[in-house]
This record gives sequence, structure tokens and C-alpha cells, in this order.
Amino acid sequence: MTTEKLQALLDSMTIREKVGQLVQCNAGQFIQNDMEITGPEGELLPAEDLNRVMGSVLTFEDAAQAKALQDRHLAADPKKIPLLLMLDVIHGLRTTYPIPLAMGCSFDDDLMAECADMARKESAVCGVHVTFNPMVDTARDARWGRILETSSEEPLLNSRMGAAVVRATQGEDLSRPENVACCVKHFAAYGAPEGGRDYNTVDLSERTLREAYLPAYKACLDAGARLIMPSFNALNGIPSVANRWLMNRVLREEWGFNGVVISDYNAVGELVTHGVAENLKDAVRLSMLAGCDIDMVRNAYYLYLEDLVRDGVVPEEMLDQAVLRVLKLKNELGLFENPYHGADEEAEKKLYLCPAHREIARRAAEESAVLLKNEGILPLSDRIRKAALIGPFADERHLVGFWSRPGAWKDAVTLPEGIQALLPDLELIIERGCGAEIGDTDESGIDRAVEAARSADAVILALGEPENDSGEGRSRATLTLPGPQMTLARRVLAANPNTAVILFNGRPLELTELDELAPAILEMWYPGTEAGNAAARLLFGRANPCGKLSAGLPRSVGQYPMPYNRMNTGRPKPQPDSQAFPFTSCYLDTPNLPLYSFGHGLSYTTFSYESLTLDRTVMRPEESVRVTIRVRNTGSGAGKEVVQLYLRDPVASVVRPVQQLIDYRKISLEPGEVKEVAFTVTEEQLRFWDFDCSFRSEPGTFELSTGYADHLLLTRTFVLQ
Ligand code: BGC
Repeated sequence: MTTEKLQALLDSMTIREKVGQLVQCNAGQFIQNDMEITGPEGELLPAEDLNRVMGSVLTFEDAAQAKALQDRHLAADPKKIPLLLMLDVIHGLRTTYPIPLAMGCSFDDDLMAECADMARKESAVCGVHVTFNPMVDTARDARWGRILETSSEEPLLNSRMGAAVVRATQGEDLSRPENVACCVKHFAAYGAPEGGRDYNTVDLSERTLREAYLPAYKACLDAGARLIMPSFNALNGIPSVANRWLMNRVLREEWGFNGVVISDYNAVGELVTHGVAENLKDAVRLSMLAGCDIDMVRNAYYLYLEDLVRDGVVPEEMLDQAVLRVLKLKNELGLFENPYHGADEEAEKKLYLCPAHREIARRAAEESAVLLKNEGILPLSDRIRKAALIGPFADERHLVGFWSRPGAWKDAVTLPEGIQALLPDLELIIERGCGAEIGDTDESGIDRAVEAARSADAVILALGEPENDSGEGRSRATLTLPGPQMTLARRVLAANPNTAVILFNGRPLELTELDELAPAILEMWYPGTEAGNAAARLLFGRANPCGKLSAGLPRSVGQYPMPYNRMNTGRPKPQPDSQAFPFTSCYLDTPNLPLYSFGHGLSYTTFSYESLTLDRTVMRPEESVRVTIRVRNTGSGAGKEVVQLYLRDPVASVVRPVQQLIDYRKISLEPGEVKEVAFTVTEEQLRFWDFDCSFRSEPGTFELSTGYADHLLLTRTFVLQ
């Protein structure tokens, strides 16, 4: 449809019809489905009238439902404006790939894009027009259960992963039925709730907000994301959906975003609960004036916006602009010509879980696993005749994680299935030993598990967190392995020292005691559909671990928030990992550093960093520095290494972080092979949010290092003139 026709359509609409375009309903109101509802339902209003006017729905199951919803709406809507169909496709639709936090550990933007591309194909045939993805909330506190949904604690990694998802999902041309629009979320700083408690208030300086939290949303918008979702939380006192500074000033004016803003689930209604709106009508006024175009599921706009416009409280011009943004998106998606977009029942059957998609999911699961520790136990030898698979995750299928589709876990490959497919002759004894539920105290299975451990040549001890313990609304105040898992671990590790621990969980856990006892630990996160196959290949050396932590693991939950790019202090502890040092910034009972820092991850081979060289030591602002890092594979197998580049600005007019990742690249090396990785550092990467509230760099000395957080190697300096 041409722009003129679109404008003519808008001009022909009544206020009520316009308001309808800003109303999003839950598909469950019109069709039966099993999709999980993530918050309180809005008021259940007359479904027929809603169906006639509404502009979009969320949370449906398949192409048949998508078509039925569209048909039903178009039959009732006199203006025949197609619905937008939206769905949370966070880490795959039917073929589930690892949770985003795990994907961050791959440090591989291309692999992220490959996974997002697979999800795009499956989503398109399911009938999805918009996915509420990527979620790029920087998270520095694993008590917050939604850390699982983000790529990292690291703004650059988060930005690059998010942008890769946007480009792969949206493609070049949204009108093509195989492409899907992205809604980036949750704007802003939803990942910094006080105490790590979901939905809790967020209080941040503008500097921290600008430097650590906003860049990833901006990167996704720069990559072309068409929608953005304000977060549930209050940011410095104002809930995001009503935050005019955030949405009008930063988003629209500074960043020039002209796409659609959609509230989070019932967030408009929650303005009343927050206590910033007198009532629901007031909440509508606040959200509209702050620039929130669509009201997700609360039906508050449906109830009150028309009156507010008629009374002149919300200018009709503002309503028109919001509606035009929604109509433009529908037009861009080609919905006026093809309201089903890509929905196709036959293609669903062919694509879902097809071998090509499973292969991508398996590779992603392998590349996002992190080998935390290995004292010569892994990989396990093929010569082992009898292995004991012990622990609550030893024979578990719930390995896909939060935000997977209902029932997606049923398609996941378990650990024994993966191992038997690889080594059919290996004798496996499986003992659960105990449960992993919070509060679970039943230790009655541990004796049998210990017996099994004693009788085996090697033990794979599969521990972790139940799938539903991380995700939305799943915050924890303790981060140790839940239930009696540590009792099981102590006894099994004592019974058979040839034990490798494998972990399935959605957030960084506190593994301090386990780390002291276990000779090898492989962190798998929630790997998705191909869990068991990927784990088996890693355990038995068919794949070589190469993941690096996208968020550090704490020694103690009391260290949170624990950003690797922490600010320098006036009293830094001289040796961060030594004993407490009087009157320095330290704990009396725990070292300062994480148990495993951001960027850590081992391989079955070894790498040595031979040199880091700069092509100049003095740089003018318009110039750049070329950094060359030479890496050698010093082990006996092929492997992949993530070369990381860190910056430090030792003296500036404001306090700067002790280390900051500014670039990374993953490389493959054959045994003995040497590669040089070149990075270009520009003045823009040296900027920070200064005292006068703008991004700029300052002349002076800068340090560049490689290695990983808190373990930097080969530092070189240069001067910015
Ligand atoms: C979540 C969003 C999600 C929305 C729709 C909310 O509870 O915070 O991330 O997109 O539900 O399912």
C-alpha cells in the first residue's frame, strides 16, 4: 500500500477504530491454547467487540491458529485492517537452541545469527509477524532469574549478539513472508533490579545507564529493530512505560527511533499498582503521553483512550501518530496484501525439528558450553566400559529452559540417549540420587548412587537447577545447587575420583565448594533440543569445548552486583584475590574476584598468547590503532579460542572501569598453528559519559590487553593526543 493510501485509511478511521489499533489482546481470549500467561490477565471484555477493533494479538500456537485469528478478525473489521500476530520466540520455536546467556558464551555473532535465522524460518511458517526478541538487558546479578534471557553482563557482547539476532530475523525486506519483525526489550535497565528481585525498582546513575545498559538497546535499533518494549520496572522513580525522559527524549529525540513502542504485559495497568497513576484512565494518559503506542493485554486503552482523546487530554494528533506507526509496520510486513504472511501448515511439518535445524542447535549447544575446570578427567576415554550417570539431571528431558514453547522439552535429547547414540556398547548405570528442587531434603537415593559410582570406571555427575527456577519471576536469594545435590556430590566424588561434573542451569551458580571437590566441571546451561547429543560429544571428545563465560560465577552470592567492568576505587585491594587487606575495598571473608571471571573457559587443547603489538603508540583522534595479537595452539588437538581485547583508561576526569571489553574474535587453530588476530581501535571506543553529560574521549594514555577479565596478559599502552 502506498503512503498516501495508508494516510487515507487513517483519515477514514473513527477514533474508536484508531484506538483499536493500539489494543493488543491475548489470543487465548479467542481461541483455546496451552500458551503460558506471564502476568495477571486484563479485564475480560466483550470478545466480539474487541475482535472487531483490536490491532494485534499475542501468544498463539501454530499456523492454523494464526490463520483462524486473522480470518475471524478480518470478517468482523469493517476496515479490513489485518492483525499483527506476536509471539515470544526467544531461543527457537520448535527446534530450541541454548538459552541466550549460553549463546553469549559462544562469543560467536555468526553462530547467533545462524540460530536466529533458523528461529525466523520456524516462526514465519507458524504465522508470527513480530517476535519479542532480542532481550538485551545487561545483567550483573544472577539472583535475577531473567539473566538467562540476556546474552551477557557485558554491554558490547550483548549489543553484538542482539544486533545479529535483529539482522537475521528481519532480513532485508519485511514484506517477504519468511521474515519477522523484532521487538527489542526491556527498555531500560530491567536487568538491574534492587536485590536481584524481578520487577523491582532500578536506581542507576545516568553514567552507568548510558555506558552499561543503553548501548545494547541502541545497537538493536541501529540494526533496524522495528519495535521496542519499555520495561516493567521503575527507573530512577518512573516506571518505564510512563517515562517521558526515556521514551520521548532518549528514544525518539536522541536516537531518532520512529518504530512502534509496545508496553510489557499489563505494564500500563501496573502504573496504578506502582502508585504513579490514580486509576486506569490516568495510567492510559501517562503511557500515551510518554509515547507508548500499544497497550499489551490490559485493555486499558480500549476502555479509556477514546474519552481521553475526546476530552483533549491526549491530543488526537498524538493518537494518529501512534496509529500510523502501527499501520506502517503492518504495511511493511505486507499484511494488507497477504494477511497470513508466512503461515503455512505444510511448511511447519517440514521445518520443525528437521535434521538441518537440529544440526545447528547441536553445534550451538557445543559452542556455548563452558569447561570451567579440568584436571585431566575430560574428555572421557572411549575405552571406558562402564559409566555411572548420576544426579537429578542424569536422565532428564527438561533441558530447554524458560521461554521455550509448551511441550518443547519433549523433543529434547537426554544425556543417556546422547551417550548411547554415540557409544552403543558402553554400559550405563543411571542413578538419580536426589532431587534438585528448592527445599527438597530427600537423600534416600544417595546410597545407591554412591554404590553405582564405586562400581563404574567413570562417573558423569549431572547437577543443576530445575528448568523452572530461572526465568521470569524466578529470583533467588541463594545460588547454591538446590536440594541435597551437594551432599550427593560430596559422597560421589569421594567414592570415585574419576568423576566429571556436568551442569544444567539457567544462571551463574555459586559453585565454590563443588569447585574445590570436583576435578572437572562442564557448564552446559540449558542447551535446548540437542542437549544430550551435544553433551555426549563434548564429554567424549568428539567436540572440543570453546565457550567463555558471558557472566562471571560468584564465590558467594554476597558479591552481587559483581560487574567485571567495575569502577576503580580510591582504595583498591592490592592483590584482589589475596587475604583481606585492612582499610581497602574488600570483604573479610571472601576474595574480591569471582570464582570464574567473565571470559573464562578452557579447552581440551591449550593456547599461548605470544605477542600483542600496536602499529602506533601515539594516535590523533581521527586516526586508529591497529592491534595485532598472536596466538598459538600449544596442545595436541584442534580447538577454538576467543581472543578478547580489553581497554583501560588509567586517568580520566571521571572514574573509569578497571577493564572493559572493546572487541573479540573467535578463531580456530590446528595443533601447533599460529594465527594473528588484528583489531582496530578508534577514538570512539575510548569515549565515556563525561561530567557534562555527553560521550567524549580525553587525551592521555590508554592500556590495551588480552586474556580474559581479571586475568589480563600482554598489556601495551598508547597515547591519544
Ligand atoms: C515479559 C516479556 C514478554 C511478554 C509477552 C512479559 O511478561 O516480560 O518479556 O515479551 O510477557 O509474553
